[in-house]
Amino acid sequence: MTVDEMPIGTVASDTETPTFEVVRIKLKAGNDVRPNTLIRIPVSRSEAATLIGRIRTAHEHNPNEATGAIHLRDTLEMKASYPKEEESTTIFRVVEAELVEELYEEKGKKKTRSPQTLPQSGTEVFLATDAEIVLTLGLATDPGKGLYIGDTVSGITTKVILKREAIQRHFFIGGTTGSGKSYAMGVLAEELRKHDLPIIFIDTQDEYAALATKLGGIVRVPGKDFNIRISSLTEREVIGLIPAIRESDLQQNIVAAAFNELMVELKTGTIDKFVIDDLVERIKVVGPKLTTKKDSVAAAAFRTDFLKRHDIFGEGISRENWPKTMYPCMSIRCKSLTAGSLQTVATAVLRELQDLRLRNFIPPYVAVIDEAHLFVPEGEGSACKQVIREGVRIGRHHGICMVLLTQSPVDIDKSVIRQCNTRMIFALEPDQLDAIRGVKADASEAMLKALPKMPQGTCLLSGTYESVKHSIPLKVRERETLDSEGGKTPDIFGEMADSWNAKLKPTK
Ligand SMILES: Nc1ncnc2c1ncn2[C@@H]1O[C@H](COP(=O)(O)OP(=O)(O)OP(=O)(O)O)[C@@H](O)[C@H]1O
Ligand SMILES: [Mg+2]
Repeated sequence: MTVDEMPIGTVASDTETPTFEVVRIKLKAGNDVRPNTLIRIPVSRSEAATLIGRIRTAHEHNPNEATGAIHLRDTLEMKASYPKEEESTTIFRVVEAELVEELYEEKGKKKTRSPQTLPQSGTEVFLATDAEIVLTLGLATDPGKGLYIGDTVSGITTKVILKREAIQRHFFIGGTTGSGKSYAMGVLAEELRKHDLPIIFIDTQDEYAALATKLGGIVRVPGKDFNIRISSLTEREVIGLIPAIRESDLQQNIVAAAFNELMVELKTGTIDKFVIDDLVERIKVVGPKLTTKKDSVAAAAFRTDFLKRHDIFGEGISRENWPKTMYPCMSIRCKSLTAGSLQTVATAVLRELQDLRLRNFIPPYVAVIDEAHLFVPEGEGSACKQVIREGVRIGRHHGICMVLLTQSPVDIDKSVIRQCNTRMIFALEPDQLDAIRGVKADASEAMLKALPKMPQGTCLLSGTYESVKHSIPLKVRERETLDSEGGKTPDIFGEMADSWNAKLKPTK
């Protein structure tokens, strides 16, 4: 008999259970189950079906260890002496499972529905089989058509292969520093490459350069070998990036008028591109038509000229060259940028890509944004917020896929996380738990409470009908691309011993 053919327990009857939602199971002695293990309860009332439950709590009943019994032994200095669970008539364990799915057959096809049959007390209970887990979670069966990101950790070990379409409804990866987010992103990237989707990393910590190179892609540094056309931005975005212009409505209006004039010329083909210098010149022409205040025109031109400090704006990549640049993948190294420049780069890149994609000049793509709380902060505005919000909102219809990563779910815009339909939550500090309550899918309170202790590389995977139907802990698989990790914690002690001590310590 295989492990899934041996009964682990029996459906018990008490005053509260079984119900359509919850079942309590008297475990057979010697059987152990972990929280979140999927179990199977056969039912055969009117038609053959199988209920699938997910273990949530457990309880051991042992009258020999009641507080009074322990006290009695302690007082009399007696050792405990009674048969173990296997031979005992009074010691037993009960586990509680919530029913998550009912599997049934229709015209020879295996199907799922929400549980609607009452489990019968006395029925033997088994671990769910590999095939049942796949069906219950709504996973892909063909690895060639899915994203194999890891394995289940409780019950029968099952490969978690997400349907590849899940990427079109965006991913969210959250967890404290060092919990395994970027590593998991690497695994996801390997899978996405197998399906040939181009990937663009906005790499804030220099964590993806090695991976991008190993996957056959390139690394670009903004201002050095990479820049963007200012015409990629919207009028609001351009104004949002100009320092200190927010205080002056008049100056904003002047910039907007000049920018819009140039955009009209670009769209009608009068010009084929424009750069910051062209915008500044146009401000000087348009300004006097809008106001007699010469100072305001000069200030608008001067402040707009400041955009040049970012180095990110320039001749850009032509739409003919973009597909070859972004394919198969591209990491935009942003580590050395200041917070302000980082916003500018991300806004410019994401806006340009989105615009080109909507006009069908580039293929579908996946944009990966690490430290996403910097770009879509909760509450406050940011230059980049609009384009990321648009990306997650309209992306599904246009082949724009987003993966957002953050150490700090508390600080990220919740409406954006909610639009990311597949979520991988790694270890989180307890004070971060509230932030993910709104997006926990059917994860139980016990699952959330376990998050702070989640081991490195293990996450709570949750999603929707398209990705994964029920929340389940997942051990992320190993990366296939060797030496592809960036951002490893440096060995500071070795560095002190090898190179600094000799310089710093006085020689005798
Ligand atoms: N699934 C895994 N398998 C093997 N090792 C892993 C796994 N996940 C993480 N690790 C190890 O843990 C280290 C830290 O993981 P990672 O860099 O992904 O953390 P992070 O969550 O991105 O942290 P930060 O927020 O600081 O960037 C990795 O360098 C790797 O050695
Ligand atoms: Mg990381």
